[in-house]
Amino acid sequence: MGAAAGGKLLATSDLHVAHPDNRKIVEELRPETDEDWLLVAGDVAEKVADVEWALGLLAERFATVVWVPGNHELWTPKADPVTLRGEQRYRYLVATCRRLGVLTPEDPFRVWRGAGGPVVIAPLFVLYDYTFRPEGTRTKEEALARAYDAGVVCTDEFLLHPDPHPSRDAWCRARVKESERRLAELDGDLPAILVNHWPLVREPTRILRYPEFAQWCGTELTADWHRRYRCAAVVYGHLHIPRTTYHDGVRFEEVSVGYPREWRKRGLPRGTLRQILPCGENR
Ligand SMILES: [Fe+2]
Ligand SMILES: [Fe+2]
Repeated sequence: MGAAAGGKLLATSDLHVAHPDNRKIVEELRPETDEDWLLVAGDVAEKVADVEWALGLLAERFATVVWVPGNHELWTPKADPVTLRGEQRYRYLVATCRRLGVLTPEDPFRVWRGAGGPVVIAPLFVLYDYTFRPEGTRTKEEALARAYDAGVVCTDEFLLHPDPHPSRDAWCRARVKESERRLAELDGDLPAILVNHWPLVREPTRILRYPEFAQWCGTELTADWHRRYRCAAVVYGHLHIPRTTYHDGVRFEEVSVGYPREWRKRGLPRGTLRQILPCGENR
């Protein structure tokens, strides 16, 4: 029994359910016990109806589901009847989650009291600000120019609208401020698990096939958060490079499923659900 008595804290991300094969994966996702929680670290889908379908299904199955937005949820794709942009789209998704009983970065932090707990679960939405720049570039403009030259330009440039913020990086800075305000309220007695779509440190982006892509992957402003807050683990996705790394002794879990062409090639050796707590099992 052991762990089963206290349930498991599990995580996944980048479900990209617009792909029928990924939809099948979500249909088959089930908890191991009635007490399991699931952290969903963004990129569920682009259309709101798809996000709602996936999170609704998961909320029926898991004791608690926590979601943070990825860049794909924040896109305004032409085919989506929900035409909201930027902040308004995010708020609409948060309201959708509330209806489904799914926790978001806008809710009070909850404490996982199951096996491996107690730990505070801190869902975050901090975006990126083009500071993970390619070698030899010093500004956002230079970094973007390098990406356009290399033909490696993230679709966010065309579909992720920052309204009413003047830019995506301005929205990021506002989110960093808001997240710092929330994290300051953390009870220092308990360790925290930080959940964010983009990695909070730059190191995991060093192995990207196209280094120009890193500028859409995070912000230098969060570089010390895993040290500043009493952090048990960081859960993220976005890179579609599922693995576990350690930074300053803190465990970082990249938990993405990714696109069918990716998981078909590399397989899903650790399954679609990563065990975050209790740690030390199925690893
Ligand atoms: Fe993704
Ligand atoms: Fe992403």
